[in-house]
Amino acid sequence: MLLARRIRKSYGRVQALVDVDVRVYPGEVLGIVGESGSGKSTLLRLLNLEEAPDAGEYFLNVPGYQGVNLFRLDRYQARLLRLKHLGIVYQNPHLGLRMRYTSSGNVVERLILVGERRYKALRQQAQRALEASDFPLDRMDDPPLRLSGGMQQRVQLAKAIALKPSLILLDEPTTGLDLSVQARVLDTIRRLRRDTGVTFVIVSHDLGVIRALAERVMVMKEGYVVEEGLVDQVLEDPQHPYTQELVHSSL
Ligand SMILES: Nc1ncnc2c1ncn2[C@@H]1O[C@H](COP(=O)(O)OP(=O)(O)O)[C@@H](O)[C@H]1O
Ligand SMILES: [Mg+2]
Repeated sequence: MLLARRIRKSYGRVQALVDVDVRVYPGEVLGIVGESGSGKSTLLRLLNLEEAPDAGEYFLNVPGYQGVNLFRLDRYQARLLRLKHLGIVYQNPHLGLRMRYTSSGNVVERLILVGERRYKALRQQAQRALEASDFPLDRMDDPPLRLSGGMQQRVQLAKAIALKPSLILLDEPTTGLDLSVQARVLDTIRRLRRDTGVTFVIVSHDLGVIRALAERVMVMKEGYVVEEGLVDQVLEDPQHPYTQELVHSSL
């Protein structure tokens, strides 16, 4: 589904990503774990084509883009690819939502961008996406600003799935939420995944989140991928000292 090779990105003297390879198979959930500053969010921004890398190649197996290095797309083409094939949920809802629009308006906005204009169809499609994200429909005209953190993440999820993307990128989608809210949002993500079969990449510094959702995991440290494998294997029997430390500190 996704193949990225030798991605590099520096900010001044900080090497945020060093020769990072990513491979994601259709329908799977890839987890990316690592402590704060290890380059996870940078990697997701690059995969969402929000920012350009210093070097690297990026391919998605979606119609019309086979064999195209997506890092070479211009801004307009990148925007089109994002609309058609990608969805993203940020840790910080301010990055993903217009906080003063209505919640349904946030989803509708995305639908309008691909040409839907009929009011009723827009409203119905937005409603379906919100419902699938376990968002209570009696709140759909409230702006995210007035909603809880958990509800805001559900609006982001609805927006991410609204156009039926091939790949959804999640950056710490439950970080900062109360534990019980976290658990419910994770349940929603798990169910969305089961119902839609869509491919996910989920980033978290929290091994619990990775354990709950991912099949494969990539461990990052200071811009490098230090370990990679099936979640069960890597977490049961971590090979790299850094992963061992992560696993032990999360028990
Ligand atoms: N826009 C930016 N400008 C300067 N430095 C950045 C920027 N984005 C990230 N960095 C740096 O790159 C490194 C990786 O950051 P980030 O990808 O946010 O890590 P993570 O998401 O794993 O916490 C950090 O050292 C961070 O300070
Ligand atoms: Mg981050």
